[in-house]
Amino acid sequence: MSRARHVLVVGGGANAEHDVSNGSAAAVREALLASGHLVTGLTIRRDGGWETVSGTQIGIAAAIQRLRESDVIFPALHGEGTEDGTIAGLLDVVGVPYVGSGVRAGALAMDKWTSKLIAERLGISTARGALVDGESTHGDPAAVPLPVVVKPVASGSSYGAARVDRAQDLDAAIAAAQQYDTRVLVEEFVTAREIDVAVMRGATGELHVAPPLEIGKDTEQLFDTALKYDAAPDFRVPAAVPQVVRDRLSAAAKAMYEALGCAGVARVDFFVRDDEIIFNEINTMPGMTEHSQVPRMFAVDGVTFPELTARLVAAAYARDARRSEKRDAEDSRRRRQP
Ligand SMILES: Nc1ncnc2c1ncn2[C@@H]1O[C@H](COP(=O)(O)OP(=O)(O)O)[C@@H](O)[C@H]1O
Ligand SMILES: [Mg+2]
Repeated sequence: MSRARHVLVVGGGANAEHDVSNGSAAAVREALLASGHLVTGLTIRRDGGWETVSGTQIGIAAAIQRLRESDVIFPALHGEGTEDGTIAGLLDVVGVPYVGSGVRAGALAMDKWTSKLIAERLGISTARGALVDGESTHGDPAAVPLPVVVKPVASGSSYGAARVDRAQDLDAAIAAAQQYDTRVLVEEFVTAREIDVAVMRGATGELHVAPPLEIGKDTEQLFDTALKYDAAPDFRVPAAVPQVVRDRLSAAAKAMYEALGCAGVARVDFFVRDDEIIFNEINTMPGMTEHSQVPRMFAVDGVTFPELTARLVAAAYARDARRSEKRDAEDSRRRRQP
């Protein structure tokens, strides 16, 4: 398959993760250039408008025209209003192949409450918790044993997430998380190692699970925004875990990927306590700089960052071709009917 495809990378986004997404987009553009693609870019501004990579504002019609003129779109976008199915829906309507998950998987994964319910249904443990949804609650947030973690249901990069040790601090933490989402999770604090697993579906449909990555940090501490971005985090790949734990992580990560109906690469994050695994969250557009978890995991498997982005583009193209074939087959069947 020729690699000289025109790939348009979209970065930015009108949410708290705007800068993080721009970081991913810049790195993805560079990696795609290195793997021989023709690369252009667009940025979603903080106000929701669109601009070129050089900063010229363009209207939505012009942006759609550019999307349509490319072979494949690479949405390097994190967070609400982007990774949650919003961009996938736009690209479905525009009708151009794109890297990563579709509407359903993006929306289900972005919702930390829903993804927990799905994990539980699959027999994968999650932290006990309650949901605060405006005035109503599911479960009693005050009854979750302290310490707890309070976090917005649909956010990322640890924005709005905090550990609470004293009952009198709970309301303030909930109010802080509500700055990011009207729905807030109150979860028991899991004192455990944090280990991430990357799952990718390739162009021929097979699943590739990369070696797990451990986040080296104090188990009493959150992997918070400062730890994530202020200095290089301490990632250990492959995570030093017994084979039985690795198999368990891999099976659970694949089960979540399949249950949500993901495409492209997803990062499934777990807590690990001895040989017990607890699902935390799933990201359908995980961080995509060379130093982010997913590229680090694939690198250990011998897949360079440029190669990883090339595989994602090839997978997007193959998935689109399969969908078109199916549509054509349905069309011709309908035409044959009297
Ligand atoms: N129930 C929990 N117990 C312990 N730590 C948690 C819990 N939930 C979240 N954390 C910590 O907070 C971080 C951010 O929470 P996470 O659910 O991953 O949201 P985000 O989408 O912002 O990454 C996690 O990486 C972890 O360190
Ligand atoms: Mg996380």
